[in-house]
Amino acid sequence: MTSTLRSARWFAPDDLRSSGHRSRLMQMGYDAKDWGEKPIIAILNTWSDLNPCHAHFKHRIDDVKRGVLQAGGFPVELPVQSLSESSLKPTTMLYRNFLAMEAEELLRGHPIDGAVLMGGCDKTTPALVMGAISAGLPMIFLPSGPMLRGHYKGEHLGSGSDAWKYWDERRAGTITDEQWIGVEEGIARSYGHCMTFGTASTMTAIAESLGLTLPGASSIPAADANHIRMSTRCGRRIVEMVHEKLGPEKIITEKSVANASAVAMATGCSTNAVVHLIAMARRAGVPLTLEDLDGISRTTPVIANIRPSGKQYLMEDFYYAGGLRALMAEMKELLHLDAMTVSGFPLGATLEGAEVHNSDVIRPLSNPIYHEGSLAVLKGNLAPDGCVVKPSACEERLRVHEGPALVFDSYPEMKAAIDDEDLDVTPDHVLILRNAGPKGGPGMPEWGMLPIPKKILKQGYRDMLRISDARMSGTSYGACILHVAPESHVGGPLSLVRTGDIIRVDVANRTIDMLVDEEILAMRRAAWTRPADKYERGYGWMFSKHIKQANEGCDFDFLETAFGTAVGEPDIF
Ligand code: FES
Repeated sequence: MTSTLRSARWFAPDDLRSSGHRSRLMQMGYDAKDWGEKPIIAILNTWSDLNPCHAHFKHRIDDVKRGVLQAGGFPVELPVQSLSESSLKPTTMLYRNFLAMEAEELLRGHPIDGAVLMGGCDKTTPALVMGAISAGLPMIFLPSGPMLRGHYKGEHLGSGSDAWKYWDERRAGTITDEQWIGVEEGIARSYGHCMTFGTASTMTAIAESLGLTLPGASSIPAADANHIRMSTRCGRRIVEMVHEKLGPEKIITEKSVANASAVAMATGCSTNAVVHLIAMARRAGVPLTLEDLDGISRTTPVIANIRPSGKQYLMEDFYYAGGLRALMAEMKELLHLDAMTVSGFPLGATLEGAEVHNSDVIRPLSNPIYHEGSLAVLKGNLAPDGCVVKPSACEERLRVHEGPALVFDSYPEMKAAIDDEDLDVTPDHVLILRNAGPKGGPGMPEWGMLPIPKKILKQGYRDMLRISDARMSGTSYGACILHVAPESHVGGPLSLVRTGDIIRVDVANRTIDMLVDEEILAMRRAAWTRPADKYERGYGWMFSKHIKQANEGCDFDFLETAFGTAVGEPDIF
């Protein structure tokens, strides 16, 4: 065997098993000119007929393949789960680790030398990255790109954010059914992922700032011809990366994780960022914590004026203003510029020449839209292991608040009560939803932006303090405190709160407490019984047994292994 390629272990030996590998590729019309000395590049494609965010991947796969062929590689498409955020119940988060396992095992088990990861819709990005880190092969991430701006009667509509906003107006009776249908028709006008700075834009920006995409890739709108050319460039570049032996262990380091954390905070990132960042970092042996993220947030202002943290602009505006390269150039002093990227150059070199074309969309550090980063981590007797809030997206009056709890034990219970105009609730109440965490949901559904009770909406209020062990969509907004850990399902303090208890939150001081005597809490703790798990079989059963808490990244306990130790090869007989 002369080739140093990993795939040569399948095709080069003169033995019966390798003969089988070769003859079965010949069955598909390939010959030694296709494999031989050529790197075999897996393209993990998350296309499906039910994923509008990845609808164009059906065609982009050919653009990636073209690039691989141009550079002398052998492209093979490996379809993987699509995880459509808009279709999959009960929540895509239930399946993030499933896709991560699928990606890892596909790459490990097949004759693959490098991989292009095609993702974008929320969980697909962290899932593919987690799996590919653990597989340990050279890889490059191709983001699906944001969809075009939404439109309705001359107004720009933002994915998710405007759906929540106009739904509340409909519940309050201030818009008609016809207007609501107009919003529904205008809010998603092209393929591509959500075009607010929701979870999808957050995670693709994180992938880019981790060094896992080609420079500028995450900002290109899906429908822009530049996205096609970027796809082809990814195909060319991964072949070079295989020859250069540029694997993820050289790219995902403490420095690149710190860069990604800072960029996330500066972009007004989704609260989901913390769960995924921690999970991805830990797969790479970087022990990122909530405290690390809070520390970075305190020194990194939000400079992307994109909704939902910003008031007006969307991802298309961000691209025209210079995109993520321009934003990172603007915050250079907060980044480790020597961190390596898939381009083969350190981050600093990839930012040369990047310019901001609209300083209202991408602000200078001296004129941020919020003086600290996007997220704050709170702790106290209600959340000893931490929880997360997005101060830039909630009303200022609620950043320090004390009020009585109104507790719901389940989403159906909350849903049945919330439109009851006789509900005993005031604008000062603190709405609490529990049993919606990693094990309790299970899968931490995006229920954390609890609807404002109809009675309160009619009084003109559009925000209230809300607390849960759930997540919320990155396109959501409001005074929503999320990811309370430990969750209520495992007996965390959230399980002990009663309606009427006084809750006190102080975002600046990072505290969250219930003002209840310890003796009373001890009595409640003694009387508490753990609810039954919802799944008795299958993947849901396995998930419930092995999922870790939100502050630990929600990876499976048997997968969270530093890479290097996770890299394995199948036996070759
Ligand atoms: Fe796919 Fe929002 S639904 S990114």
